[in-house]
Amino acid sequence: MTAHPRSPGVTVRAAAKVNLYLGVGRPRSDGYHPLATVYQTLSLHDDVTAATSGRWSVELVSEDGIDRDSFPTGEDNIVVRAGRLLAAHHRDARAASLTVRKSIPIAGGLAGGSADAAATLVALDRLWDLQTSDADLLSIGGQLGSDVPFALVGGTALGGGRGELVTPMLDQATRWWVVVPARSGLSTPVVYRHFDQLSPDAPEEVHVSEDLLSALEHPDNRVLAATLHNDLAAPAIDLRPELGELIEAGERAGALRGIISGSGPTVLFLCADRGSADRVRTSLVEAGQPRVLVALGPVSGTHVVEYA
Ligand code: C5P
Repeated sequence: MTAHPRSPGVTVRAAAKVNLYLGVGRPRSDGYHPLATVYQTLSLHDDVTAATSGRWSVELVSEDGIDRDSFPTGEDNIVVRAGRLLAAHHRDARAASLTVRKSIPIAGGLAGGSADAAATLVALDRLWDLQTSDADLLSIGGQLGSDVPFALVGGTALGGGRGELVTPMLDQATRWWVVVPARSGLSTPVVYRHFDQLSPDAPEEVHVSEDLLSALEHPDNRVLAATLHNDLAAPAIDLRPELGELIEAGERAGALRGIISGSGPTVLFLCADRGSADRVRTSLVEAGQPRVLVALGPVSGTHVVEYA
């Protein structure tokens, strides 16, 4: 029996992010909010496999706990938009089939969609040997979403503008996180609108705190824990009060701090070390949380894992 030849494909990995600091200002004239953030990638990732095809298509492969119904499988999926934008940039008429192997919760505040877009840009660039410059990839990424440029760069970085202006930073420590995805996502625009209602006096300009920047030079997670901050936590908890209860439960179980990443609803707990993270995880699972993960940060940005 002859095996069907597989069409050549490239698989690219991109990581989830947590905002160690997220300062949000009052909306700009274009409706976006000015941000001052520090991003960090986590060892929780999606893989995108791209293969040349006569038409654009997207398929989801996911583990238990991913809300498959929230994943658009048509042309409006961010991976197809990413592919089309890259092809248009090169005046290239080709299309591709895109398979997303998803572990990052959907609409969870962990930039999973942005990770998928970043992975698609790199996968198609390599598949078609487009040799897109890093500057162009970042600029195309920024058009797709505010978190896409950071997903390309990875590691730890300062984010400015509406989040799309990324300056890499050094964090040589290992940060241990317990990640608790919610059963259903929260809409980012809804959380931002609620922020506007709760904070009508938000400043025009925002800055990352000096305390957090100096804590990043310290390997002890206790030092960093005291400086974590997210301006979107209050609106997210106001919309989902159970998030506040979850944060308290994790801190009672031994986490240094519980925070909401981005617009939520994923809750992350920074822990002193791996042993502590494992204990917090066990405690939350025993308390009935269905999906609790342990992850570390930072990890590398978007990168190729397989050429077939
Ligand atoms: O840039 P992205 O597509 O990820 O943003 C999704 C939505 O989140 C925007 O349409 C906007 O409502 C909100 N947002 C914002 N200010 C930002 C980033 C996102 O208001 N800096």
